[in-house]
Amino acid sequence: MNELIKAINELKKEKNAIILGHYYQKGEIQDIADYVGDSLALAQWAAKTKADIIVMCGVHFMGETAKVLCPEKKVLVPDMAAGCSLADSCPADKFAQFVKEHPGYTVISYVNTTAAVKAVTDVVVTSTNAKQIVESFPKDEKIIFGPDRNLGNYINSVTNRNMLLWDGACHVHEQFSVEKIVELKAQHPEALVLAHPECKSTVLKLADVVGSTAALLKYAVNHPENTYIVATESGILHEMQKKCPQTVFIPAPPNDSTCGCNECSFMRLNTLEKLYECLKDESPEITVDPEVAKKAVKPIQRMLEISA
Ligand code: 13P
Repeated sequence: MNELIKAINELKKEKNAIILGHYYQKGEIQDIADYVGDSLALAQWAAKTKADIIVMCGVHFMGETAKVLCPEKKVLVPDMAAGCSLADSCPADKFAQFVKEHPGYTVISYVNTTAAVKAVTDVVVTSTNAKQIVESFPKDEKIIFGPDRNLGNYINSVTNRNMLLWDGACHVHEQFSVEKIVELKAQHPEALVLAHPECKSTVLKLADVVGSTAALLKYAVNHPENTYIVATESGILHEMQKKCPQTVFIPAPPNDSTCGCNECSFMRLNTLEKLYECLKDESPEITVDPEVAKKAVKPIQRMLEISA
């Protein structure tokens, strides 16, 4: 293991590469990454890095976002099969047709989409800035919001809007069990529930804090005296526990669980071995059709400007 970590760090230096990791990655990947963050932070770091190679340890759409922002750089992913159920729930041709059927609507898309969906979008959001960006539009603006219906419903409720929602969802966040969280709360009455807005509204109703991965982490860091039941992908517990070693974090279980926690199988495809191989071979590499990228970069840049 130590040899592998040494070899990755040497290759990184030799090739002027940077490793970006999402909070849902395996702990060993988070530990070797130059930066670990949420979707927004990963896009922000990609946009400003001076490295020649970006290795995106996350899922495919995160690599695409980096490539769209930095077309001249090589963007690598340890495993090309690391997809996203939410991005898959919004095929670009169907979404483009939906947009066409609703002229006069502003299109806001979650970052968990393909570059082709972003290409028919006015502004991209992440769960960190969705509320802020939606509220930057007038109250009576007609808005299409896709693809996550749970995040869309949540943003509608906190902004008192009625955005038209695409019917997509994340298979990990949809899976959290209300019954099992209620049971956990009975066993740990002092615990606060932290939930990601991609969870169903019945789970969000049980939450004390609703927020993006970065927001949930920040809350825990600022209030380490509490015990937490965490309803988002369990990879986030690695950073939470690192930053708050004394705090008890309990992963919220999904409906169907053998390990008691909820893991994204796509995120977990990335391993240290694959990270080493991908740096060595400079493959697999993310490519985006330049015409698509030219359109997709605008709504991403717009998001980065609003969130700066
Ligand atoms: P964050 O924006 O909180 O990192 O969430 C990303 C994600 O993929 C959730 O499924």
